[in-house]
Amino acid sequence: MHLSLIENPSSLRDITPGGSLIGNVKVPGDKSISHRSLLFSAVAEGETTIEGLLPAEDPISTANCLKAMGVKISPISKGEIVKVQGVGLDGLNEPDDVLDCGNSGTTMRLLLGLIVGREGRHFVLTGDNSLKSRPMKRVGHPLKMMGAHVNGRAKGDFAPISIVGKQLHGAVIGTPVASAQIKSAILLAALTAEGSTTVIEPANSRDHTERMLKAFGANLEISGEMGRHITLKPGVKLKGTQIVVPGDISSAAFWLIAGSIIPKSDITIENIGLNPTRTGILEVLDNMGANIQLLNKREVAGEPVGDIRVTYSEQLKSFTLDNEIMPRLIDEVPILIVAACFCDGISQITGASELRIKETDRLQVMTRQLKKMGAKIEEKADGLTINGSQSLHGANLDSESDHRIAMSLGIASLLADSNSSIFRSDAASVSYPEFWSDLERLRN
Ligand code: S3P
Repeated sequence: MHLSLIENPSSLRDITPGGSLIGNVKVPGDKSISHRSLLFSAVAEGETTIEGLLPAEDPISTANCLKAMGVKISPISKGEIVKVQGVGLDGLNEPDDVLDCGNSGTTMRLLLGLIVGREGRHFVLTGDNSLKSRPMKRVGHPLKMMGAHVNGRAKGDFAPISIVGKQLHGAVIGTPVASAQIKSAILLAALTAEGSTTVIEPANSRDHTERMLKAFGANLEISGEMGRHITLKPGVKLKGTQIVVPGDISSAAFWLIAGSIIPKSDITIENIGLNPTRTGILEVLDNMGANIQLLNKREVAGEPVGDIRVTYSEQLKSFTLDNEIMPRLIDEVPILIVAACFCDGISQITGASELRIKETDRLQVMTRQLKKMGAKIEEKADGLTINGSQSLHGANLDSESDHRIAMSLGIASLLADSNSSIFRSDAASVSYPEFWSDLERLRN
């Protein structure tokens, strides 16, 4: 451990607690929408322009994989409109080398769906150590029901994953978990299958894929109870379009919680995506009695958007999360665990076993790290019990290379009674490269 600290000292960040957070902040583009905008425009006909694309490691992994298959994508950097020259539904070339998805589960799972139907071409997908230990059979299995040839380590569950492209056939597929990555992979494979494909979800997962595929001209029908039957009829070419990516509510979540729990804070977060399949955190904050105002609600390029003002709440109530709300706030659980340490009473999280197969086992890692600060947390198979009204102590913390853990520990450290240091804090760059500079700027 000491050796790696010396090798990369910039990843060790010292945090002095105290003060409040005041001002306006613009979080970067939504990660889910950014991945989709690159993937769908790659197989559309003609040019797509993407405004507000997240310039962070995960979408760059997606762009690099697409470039390796012959897609032309202009440079991705802050404030630049990205242009993608689509190659059409069957235009992706066989790459010369392995496709590296980095740390990004969305890249690997959605790419799988996009390439399995490219007849006669061979692809290998890999990633970093975290991604190589995340389950891929959940996508490989339904794709096999459509005739796909997908293999990998551990009987197809772990990357490297190899694919030999085949002509697929449509199918009716019920997914065992409400996962937008599984749903999206199936719908992407369905674009070139013979016959229509229906995905049936046990609960609604985020619907950015459905919204955006429609904007590209796909023939998509949504039916059934709560819109959980999604049918795609192939035979339609996707057409390049203009996409505007809103700010990511999963990145805004750090400021929503920080503003609520840090005395005297007053933060306005601009231009946030408010898609109802993603706003579980606002429902929870409302029930906790947080001071949240939604401002300037509008619709931008098929997604609801608004600004959010949050001010400190002296008395926040504890909360309960269960499997009903989980898909609407799955990525916000780590920062909600921090919030639970500072509200009145005991908070309960259940139905959260999916957290164990994210970039890290987030239930275990948050428990391990917050316990170093003296937090009282009990880990259960599918959740946590967290005592509120705690005073946390400064500690030597570690993100364990998970971006959302790094940022959650950063906010927890602001309320500790002494200095903390966070090892591997640079993991934040996976989804929010300017998190630490935004934090410094907001501090008062
Ligand atoms: C994502 C879906 C969610 C989420 C992930 C991004 C997406 O994963 O946790 O960060 O962009 O589709 P699951 O689909 O596995 O729930």
